[in-house]
Parts: sequence; structure tokens; C-alpha cells
Amino acid sequence: MNHVNLNLRRSIVMSAAAVALCLGVAAACCAKSITLPPDGVELRASELPGYGMAQTQCVACHSAEYLLYQPPTAARPYWTAMVKRMKAVFKAPVEDADMPAIVDYLVKTYGNEQTR
Ligand code: HEC
Repeated sequence: MNHVNLNLRRSIVMSAAAVALCLGVAAACCAKSITLPPDGVELRASELPGYGMAQTQCVACHSAEYLLYQPPTAARPYWTAMVKRMKAVFKAPVEDADMPAIVDYLVKTYGNEQTR
């Protein structure tokens, strides 16, 4: 009776050691890391009132990097459609009253009305 208990205890100790070993191996072999694309692009500063609005309403979900990939030849209707799409499709918290100012900022900062 006694040696049965001893064997049982030994096998528990052995399996605990085996588990610890496995975990150690798993941690060592699978310490992978991923590198996310840069997400620190900020909106281009501007004196336009739409700048502040865009800061609170346009970069909550993604960085301003998305704007860099828009065609600089894009005209006002393009930006209007984009802001509307952000609101309609992704539920961006854009006030209808703020839209013209945001579009104005976007087209003058990233679109075909850029002054610099
Ligand atoms: C509620 C979250 C959210 C907010 C707020 C938001 N967007 Fe987006 N936006 C997205 C998502 C999601 C995508 C990716 C769409 C895709 O992959 O097709 C996106 C994509 C974009 C793109 C890439 C081109 C495209 O059409 O997919 C631009 C440019 C853009 N957003 C501009 C804006 C602007 C300007 C605002 C402010 C008016 C804004 N976003 C606010 C969610 C948001």
C-alpha cells in the first residue's frame, strides 16, 4: 500500500517536471514578435478650423497616414464623399455641421487645393 502511494507521488512529480520542461521549451521556441506598420502619422497642422475637427473626428480609428495615400489631385467632391463614407460605413463621429470645414481642411491640405 505504501509503495503504491510512493509510486503515485513520484509519477506526479515526474509529470509536473515534464510540464514545466514543455512550457520552458515552448516559451523558448515560440518567443515570436510582430512588427506593426507605423501608426504615428499625424495630421498636417493648419490654421483652418477643420484641422481641429479632423483631429478629434478623423484619427480615432486610424492614423493620418491614410490621408497620405490619397491622390493630391483629388478635388472637393472626392473628399466630401470620403468623409460621408467614413460616417455612413464606419460610423465615424462626424457632425454634419462640421463636414464642410473638415472637407475644406482636407482638400487644402491633402487635395488639389494645396497651397504649398
Ligand atoms: C469609426 C472609425 C473611423 C473614423 C472615425 C474615420 N475613419 Fe477613415 N477609415 C476607417 C476604416 C475602418 C477604414 C478602412 C477602410 C477600408 O479598408 O476600406 C478607413 C479608411 C480611410 C481612408 C483610406 C481610404 C479609404 O477610402 O479607405 C481615408 C483617407 C480615411 N479613412 C479618412 C478619414 C477621414 C478624413 C476621417 C474623418 C472625417 C475618418 N477617416 C474617420 C474608419 C474610420
